[in-house]
Amino acid sequence: MGQKIKPECFVDFLLFARDEYTTKHCQTVAVISQKLAADLKFSNNIIEHIVTAAYLHDIGKITWDDTLLKGSNQASSQEWLKIKNHPEIAGRFLYQMLSPVLKEHERLWIALVWVHHWKYVRDDDDYPPPSVIHGTIHPVLSACHLKFEDETWDLVRGVIQVADCFHAAVAERPYHHQKRTTQEALNDLFTKQEEKNRKLFHPKVLQCLGDNCRWLEEIIGR
Ligand SMILES: [Fe+2]
Ligand SMILES: [Fe+2]
Repeated sequence: MGQKIKPECFVDFLLFARDEYTTKHCQTVAVISQKLAADLKFSNNIIEHIVTAAYLHDIGKITWDDTLLKGSNQASSQEWLKIKNHPEIAGRFLYQMLSPVLKEHERLWIALVWVHHWKYVRDDDDYPPPSVIHGTIHPVLSACHLKFEDETWDLVRGVIQVADCFHAAVAERPYHHQKRTTQEALNDLFTKQEEKNRKLFHPKVLQCLGDNCRWLEEIIGR
């Protein structure tokens, strides 16, 4: 796949076959991640890999059934297990696809996909649990981010996490009773950050998102 198929085309094809919304979500998260990563002054090389990981981040959702994928009901406890599993399923899928010889940037894609739901300061609610990543299940992943200082790694993964949460807050979904504007979604994220005592999102990435309100309004269309 790494050599012959563009990951973004691959994701479009797989996800579009199941759910148009999820495809558009992945595309938009990639566009927002690119903007954030550029504003945060990452190199073009790193930006390119952040964008690819953003495209791939929800590929684990192709294993969900339609009820869960379309998200019209309150998830049952059984469905919550599936929801919490999707980053790990995606990580394992990509690992299998790209093995046996993983290039350094492919490890980065996998690691970013695997941790895209981790908070800035991780806690016991994070999924998959950090102990799984750094434990015995996939030792290959524990080495994925070693090329970064911890601080830079937090910033890199924070780009996708913030872009993802923003798009989830503004997206048109059946369980959102009314369409939110960009400003309302931004307010939602900043409020959550305050409530959680600044531990939910990387403060620099969130600020960067807030500084791009006009640009986001153009992307989102409201
Ligand atoms: Fe996700
Ligand atoms: Fe997502």
